[in-house]
Amino acid sequence: MFKNLRTSTKLFILCSMFIILVGVTTYGLVAEKQIAITFARKELVGNQYLTVLRGVYAAILTRRPRDEPAAQQSESADRILKALSRAESDLGGLLQTAELERALAATLRELWSSKVEDENTDTLILDALAKARNLALRIGDDSNLTLDPDLDTYYLQNIVVVMLPTFLDQIGEMQALVRAAAAAGMTAGEDRVRLLVLDGLLRSTADGIRSNLEAGYRGQADGSLKQALHRVYATMNETTDSYLARMRTSVADGASDGLDASAFASGYASVVGNAIDAWSTAQTELDRLLRQRISGLRGKLFYSLMLIGVLGSLSILVAVMTHRHIVRPLERLEGIARTVRETKNYNLRIDHHNNDEIGRLAVAFNGMLSELAAAREREMSEHSEAARVSRLTTMGAMTASIAHEINQPLAAIVANGNAGLRWLANASPDLDEVCASLKRIVSDGHRASQVIGSIRAMFKKDSQERADVSLNDLVHEVTALVQAEIQSRRVTLKTELLQELPPVVADRVQLRQVFLNLMVNAIEAMGSVTHRARLLRVKSEIHEPDGVLITVQDSGIGIGPTEMERIFDAFFTTKSDGMGMGLAICRSIIEAHGGRLWASPGTPHGSVFYFVLPSGRVSGK
Ligand SMILES: Nc1ncnc2c1ncn2[C@@H]1O[C@H](COP(=O)(O)OP(=O)(O)OP(=O)(O)O)[C@@H](O)[C@H]1O
Ligand SMILES: [Mg+2]
Repeated sequence: MFKNLRTSTKLFILCSMFIILVGVTTYGLVAEKQIAITFARKELVGNQYLTVLRGVYAAILTRRPRDEPAAQQSESADRILKALSRAESDLGGLLQTAELERALAATLRELWSSKVEDENTDTLILDALAKARNLALRIGDDSNLTLDPDLDTYYLQNIVVVMLPTFLDQIGEMQALVRAAAAAGMTAGEDRVRLLVLDGLLRSTADGIRSNLEAGYRGQADGSLKQALHRVYATMNETTDSYLARMRTSVADGASDGLDASAFASGYASVVGNAIDAWSTAQTELDRLLRQRISGLRGKLFYSLMLIGVLGSLSILVAVMTHRHIVRPLERLEGIARTVRETKNYNLRIDHHNNDEIGRLAVAFNGMLSELAAAREREMSEHSEAARVSRLTTMGAMTASIAHEINQPLAAIVANGNAGLRWLANASPDLDEVCASLKRIVSDGHRASQVIGSIRAMFKKDSQERADVSLNDLVHEVTALVQAEIQSRRVTLKTELLQELPPVVADRVQLRQVFLNLMVNAIEAMGSVTHRARLLRVKSEIHEPDGVLITVQDSGIGIGPTEMERIFDAFFTTKSDGMGMGLAICRSIIEAHGGRLWASPGTPHGSVFYFVLPSGRVSGK
């Protein structure tokens, strides 16, 4: 089906498919980049939420209710709680954190309420820290941070979402333990063990942060991450190390006397402060890297779209050029070919001058049209020449035929005229004979006129006057006409006519001429025969299945095999006074009547002429 479509339709389909392909590809590209951008944006949201949570950690770990005046205390607690609740509501349900946030807020309210007893404070702190840590983990999970696909940001988010909250949780627990031990005035064996376990955990967490940082640095080519984070994390590690070293020394030294909590307070404060600073810096870097990724993705999307746009425009340009330089010329070529075929106007030309295949095709087509125009002109001039020659030939043939056919009536007129004169020249003129001669002259004159009319009709191809003709009657009629010849040449005429011979539909005058020519030829052929009888036989019979056969046989000189082939040609004669038209006229008359005329040598002498005509009657009779 495709192969039968117009070239312009094929081009249109091709372009449509190309546009659809480009559209689908572009859509895929935009969708892919959009997904990556949305992914990174969600991470940013998570990071912002963690900023608020960082403030909560700072407040839990560094501020104790009794340290500040009541009014200031509640104002700062309100501020933090509001910030937390705003951060949650700003999400609009984007993350599944509402429940955890409410639980944390409730614990914080309880922690910061003025009625809280001192001994419960540490328990509430640890509870709040645990809840804050759960919230941090949920934020990390739901905001895609834990699924981050890049090396640097992956390790950075791990520090921000998991490691630092864990670290702060552990340091908070350790400080609570220290405070509890100090308050009890002794360090129980169980507390010592817990302190040492916590020490180990904190060290392990700090190591984890370090190794995550190293991995993050490795994943970041320009080194900006290391530059931004190295110092603050080094400080955090230093203060942590000295805090833990001091704690270990104190546990070892004052195992029986308990711990002095105030001696640890400043170390603890700087560890927490530095960890919070480190967290903040890490978040700032994470934010920076995520924004950098988003703008990189946007840039790539923009360049890809620009490239697709440019390529698409170029392709459309190529399609337009193809239509202009291939499809349109082809259509013009087809249009001209169709017009030439319909109008036969070979003077049309295609106006296309490119040097491509179509241009060469146009040149070839124009050349072909020129040749056709020249051939047509030649043909027309040849045709008019042929028509002229044909007209002349027809006129010549008609003249020759008329001349041939009226020869006999003219001769008869002259003979009858002479006979009449002779009767008048007698001493006592026989007026009856004279009258008879004159009647025959008139009859011959009419016959001559009929012959001329019939021949003219034959050449003009007019619808000739056809009627039912009895060939036996015609034989009698012609016999009467050649009676004088028969007698003067001493020819014996023998007729064998079938009585029930069916009629033929024919021009009577023309058929009479056929009989006359054949019988005159036969009589003439026997003119020189002296040593045998001069016999003319005319026979009529039925020719199966539906024709009539006439045979004219003589005992004349016969026809040689070489002449036999030519006797029916016009102007072929072996007689000094012959025109050579008789048999040619006969054949054309018989063939015009749907019949056949031929000759064969006679046995033992002479020749035989045959003609067959279809029998029948004029329809309607
Ligand atoms: N019965 C016949 N026997 C022998 N030869 C014949 C006979 N009829 C025709 N021919 C040959 O055929 C030739 C052509 O005959 P056709 O009647 O066409 O012309 P023609 O008799 O020579 O001249 P004309 O035009 O005066 O009739 C004759 O010249 C003669 O040689
Ligand atoms: Mg003749």
